[in-house]
Amino acid sequence: MEDFEPIVIAFCCHYCAYTAADLAGTMRLQYPSNVRIIRLPCTGKVDVRHLLEAFEKGADGVYVAGCMEGDCHFLKGNFRAKKRVAWAKKILEDVGIGGDRLEMYNMSAAMGPRFAEVAREMTEKIRKLGPSPAKIAKSIEHRAESKKENERHAQGVT
Ligand code: FES
Repeated sequence: MEDFEPIVIAFCCHYCAYTAADLAGTMRLQYPSNVRIIRLPCTGKVDVRHLLEAFEKGADGVYVAGCMEGDCHFLKGNFRAKKRVAWAKKILEDVGIGGDRLEMYNMSAAMGPRFAEVAREMTEKIRKLGPSPAKIAKSIEHRAESKKENERHAQGVT
């Protein structure tokens, strides 16, 4: 598992974490390229479905980064996100993917170093956990389909 490079999706609020990511860049702070940022107008826009879909599409870890509690520009968006993350964590646990692959963070736009720290923290945590079981199941399924396809070709069936 040494060469495993996790894919980590970060749903970031435009007003805080996304700006903090920008600041981290300006400050030339290093954070892993494993983290792929999806910008949201507010974390209140993130739905349980989006979080689960990220895993279905190949993410090994996901996090939502919103404004500090009490600082959401849409008042309660980050509280809604917090509840949805908690709910999605439970679903992930129930289906065997693991709830600890999903987290919620709060930060301000001025927290460039914190953004980089969270990105490193999540990447290392997911690296230790290994590839997402959803990804492994998909790859087994894909290999089985390819095998069947090759067998059909070998038998002259198109
Ligand atoms: Fe940032 Fe709502 S505006 S979390």
